Amino acid sequence: MELYIDDAEIKTISRLIDLYPIDGVTTNPSILARTGKDPAEVLQEIRDIIGEDRTLFIQAVAPDTEGIVEDARKISEVFGKNTIVKIAAVPEGFKAMSILKKEGIRTCGTVVYTPLQAYLAAKAGAEYVAPYVNRIDNMGYEGVATVKKIQDIFDSNGYDCKILGASFRNCNQVLELCTYGIGAVTCSADVIDSFVRNAAIDAAVKDFADDFRKLTGKDSMREVLK
Ligand code: G3P
Repeated sequence: MELYIDDAEIKTISRLIDLYPIDGVTTNPSILARTGKDPAEVLQEIRDIIGEDRTLFIQAVAPDTEGIVEDARKISEVFGKNTIVKIAAVPEGFKAMSILKKEGIRTCGTVVYTPLQAYLAAKAGAEYVAPYVNRIDNMGYEGVATVKKIQDIFDSNGYDCKILGASFRNCNQVLELCTYGIGAVTCSADVIDSFVRNAAIDAAVKDFADDFRKLTGKDSMREVLK
């Protein structure tokens, strides 16, 4: 399962990229707005930090098909081949996805709340679809179950479209989808850190270090190896 950071804060991205096996960064207009900075500069800084080989997701903002297609062409031109254009899974967006597919511009159907939205995005040529797990939960429906249903639709219809699970509030939501074999998730720093936030893990790591120090007086293996 691919793992992305759903954030545009440079410090946060730098820390996570340094520590974890991260495949890239996803953004949307609200995430960019939270930085309070020029989006062109922030996105370029993110591209510089993650390098050319990791994937950057950037959302088209224009409301009509023509505008979405123009946004997507510009995003693709400025940020390179490992950039995927997020497009809202609404009628104007599906049309844009079909046009962009023919041009070889990679897209992700986003703002996905229902399985049939995901079906339409996949059929229109999106490479990814992004269902919003926690927002679906907050509406009183089942976010994880919705994503599993989307995966079943793709499998049973033979759609070559990956799910990018989004909008998580806890690691259990991610765990269930990882177990089910979905293609990708994007998470906040807090959720990614929570994969290993556990007192038992910390205690075990500390015990090993303490025992080694008691035995050798040293903090590293290289200090004792001849
Ligand atoms: O990228 C879109 C998705 O991650 C939204 O998440 O946290 O605003 O529900 P959230």
